[in-house]
Amino acid sequence: MPKVIYIGDDGQEHAIDAAVGDSVMATAVRNGVPGIIGECGGNASCATCHVWVREEFVPLVGEPGDMEEDLLDLAVSERRDGSRLSCQVRVTPELDGLTVDVPPEQP
Ligand code: FES
Repeated sequence: MPKVIYIGDDGQEHAIDAAVGDSVMATAVRNGVPGIIGECGGNASCATCHVWVREEFVPLVGEPGDMEEDLLDLAVSERRDGSRLSCQVRVTPELDGLTVDVPPEQP
């Protein structure tokens, strides 16, 4: 099973065994990772699942789609290069070890 590692604002690390095909948001919510809320249920319309993907994984997770781009521009407190809505990132075997930072506050 691929592992996804979530790093909280306090530096606390949550390493979760993720199911291939699940989103990075759903994996976090199901396992009680603090700071990822997923209010809209994964429809790319709330931005409460914003994460910063660590630089080395940015090429692997791909580019945000148009709807996600708009929401990232409008709704996240601090957009960075690795900003993604974690509901739009699917776990694949290649993403084993994917590491994301969780923002201190979600909108
Ligand atoms: Fe709402 Fe990702 S869960 S945008």
